[in-house]
Amino acid sequence: MFCKKISCEGFRNIDSAEVEFSDGVNVLYGANAQGKTNLLEAICMFSLGKSFRGVKDTEFIGFDKPGTKLSMTFENSMREQQLLMCFSKNHQKRIEQNGVKISRMSEIIGQFRAVLFFPEHLNIIKEGPSMRRNYLDVAISQLRPLYLKSLQRYNHILIQRNKLIKAAQDDRKSFDDTIEFWSYQLSVEAAYITVARLGYLKLCEKQLASCFEEMTGGSEIPTMSYSFAFRGASECCDDKKKLQEAYFSQLMSNHEREIGAQATLWGIHKDDVDIMLNGRSARLFASQGQQRSLSLGLKLSESAISENDSGEKPVLLLDDVFSELDSSRREYLTDRMKKGQVIMTTCGDLDTMKTAAKVIRVENGCFSAV
Ligand SMILES: Nc1ncnc2c1ncn2[C@@H]1O[C@H](COP(=O)(O)OP(=O)(O)OP(=O)(O)O)[C@@H](O)[C@H]1O
Ligand SMILES: [Mg+2]
Repeated sequence: MFCKKISCEGFRNIDSAEVEFSDGVNVLYGANAQGKTNLLEAICMFSLGKSFRGVKDTEFIGFDKPGTKLSMTFENSMREQQLLMCFSKNHQKRIEQNGVKISRMSEIIGQFRAVLFFPEHLNIIKEGPSMRRNYLDVAISQLRPLYLKSLQRYNHILIQRNKLIKAAQDDRKSFDDTIEFWSYQLSVEAAYITVARLGYLKLCEKQLASCFEEMTGGSEIPTMSYSFAFRGASECCDDKKKLQEAYFSQLMSNHEREIGAQATLWGIHKDDVDIMLNGRSARLFASQGQQRSLSLGLKLSESAISENDSGEKPVLLLDDVFSELDSSRREYLTDRMKKGQVIMTTCGDLDTMKTAAKVIRVENGCFSAV
């Protein structure tokens, strides 16, 4: 995968810019608050269909601008492609692929594949379960558009089911009439998502182990396991049908508890991933540097799995990654980066710039090749 060119209009502090990239290592370099991360965010919009900063559709529109227009030319093994996205402040969207209008954002997700690492990804290890679930969901959605659709349905059904639970004290009849329907729907999606997550986790654990083998010479061994909020699910997790039945029966036999808690208590929105280093919880016991290496290792694993899946190496987008790493881990990463296109940011790390195929200076939302 090769991101050849991006144009941005009205995107954060970038009023209007067109930036061309090399198919090797590209370094965006400049002082703080000039627009380096903003450009990575714009590129990443084409892979995720939304901002990685997790903001609403309009937050990235430049202050005082009516809307944002982004277009990208990228090349995969098949051919050159063009994607266009326009967002206006009144929440209107326009998406085009090669000049043809696309009705849903989900249709283009997975076409331009990129793997992003930015400083907040350290929270995958350090913070609560939602970051780890999000890691899996983003990674699998890039490979399987059906997974993303199932996840969207799951979240929609969950909202409906929670509304019903919250209203149960005032309207028990509606609850009794429809809870079976919503519970069944939720169990179908939960089973599909669980099986996909378990499959991905297996691949990921293997990749992470080989990454650590190379990075630490085998002295640090990571392992990963899926942690179910609903224990019954772990007993039948190899079989989608049994898993669906187990979820359904759980969601149908604890209504008073759920009404008391005012929420759906079991499902994939409650699960977690246990990440261990040398047999101990990385969240609790790993050092800062080990946590950094693990979160970076997870991203490199995501990239390798995506490549094995599609035969295409995803573009690596690295935000301020080297400032986080010691010299031997930097060396390892520099070596890995040689194998595909990388677009990275730095405030002025000279070593990074020396290895680059292209250096782009970033100043006040403007970009110029050095
Ligand atoms: N919607 C917006 N409209 C205009 N400017 C914005 C918008 N959102 C953020 N900015 C501004 O964009 C500027 C550049 O942000 P960015 O995060 O890209 O900086 P950076 O070059 O990565 O800096 P650092 O080295 O500190 O990470 C910031 O000053 C920020 O206030
Ligand atoms: Mg930045």
